[in-house]
Amino acid sequence: MQSLKLKGKVAIITGASSGIGQEAARLFAAAGARLVLTARREAELQALAADIQAQGGEALAIAGDIRDEALAQELVQAATARFGGLDIAFNNAGMTGQACSLPDMPLAEWQQVLDTNLTSAFLGARHQIPALLARGGGSLIFTSSFVGHTAGLPGMGAYAAAKAGLVGLTQVIAAEFGARGIRANALLPGGTDTPMGRASTPTPQARAYVEGLHALRRLAQPEEIARAALFLASDDASFVTGTALLVDGGVSISRP
Ligand SMILES: NC(=O)c1ccc[n+]([C@@H]2O[C@H](COP(=O)([O-])OP(=O)(O)OC[C@H]3O[C@@H](n4cnc5c(N)ncnc54)[C@H](OP(=O)(O)O)[C@@H]3O)[C@@H](O)[C@H]2O)c1
Repeated sequence: MQSLKLKGKVAIITGASSGIGQEAARLFAAAGARLVLTARREAELQALAADIQAQGGEALAIAGDIRDEALAQELVQAATARFGGLDIAFNNAGMTGQACSLPDMPLAEWQQVLDTNLTSAFLGARHQIPALLARGGGSLIFTSSFVGHTAGLPGMGAYAAAKAGLVGLTQVIAAEFGARGIRANALLPGGTDTPMGRASTPTPQARAYVEGLHALRRLAQPEEIARAALFLASDDASFVTGTALLVDGGVSISRP
């Protein structure tokens, strides 16, 4: 039986309509958390929330664009109004953007990737931190990537810059608010079998190539990443803060 590691906790999960965020929503709910879920696709979010409720959990779905500060504010307000406060935010929504060599990258493309992966995290955190402080602390998790930390993949300059930026943001939040009970950590998945991971490996050859980059010679299942998010969210990680936690199947140390 799943132990209730998040019993009584309230969590926001972004990017919950798909992949890692969707699996995290299921795991967090099974661990006892009450959830505020967000992404742009409302039907997927509502279906997930209904599924969680059918399993005896509590989840509220609020559709919106993570680049919109009004959404960041609404998520925190909803957590407070509906569930009485906020303890955890898994800031996980992201996109890779089009692979593009830097000299050819349109500024609009750069901006979109930075806004979606990095500025969204800043906007989220600035509304989440006061709510966590009001509860005496909590856990912030930001989904970064091995890309931009231990690997520089050609054509992914904007994505790498955004994901590396999240590690810096995490460190500052951890240092600035640790004394007041907030832990902040970055989670760095390796290649993961989600719609994003599959879009990055569209042919069997591309899939085999990317799998071969990992010491474990495969991609992660989204639940394997979500379990690490659950660890960082829970008191199991009570002395873990400011870290960049690689959950990457050894892609960073493998030299195939
Ligand atoms: N898959 C991998 O190989 C891999 C590796 C390392 C890191 N990551 C990171 O892991 C995180 C989750 O990715 P995933 O693999 O689970 O991919 P995914 O299945 O494509 O999920 C991405 C999620 O982000 C949401 N999202 C994207 N842009 C958004 C926007 N502008 N506003 C609101 N929500 C938005 C999507 O929802 P909507 O489309 O409904 O808005 C979706 O729920 C991302 O930050 C990604 O960069 C993934």
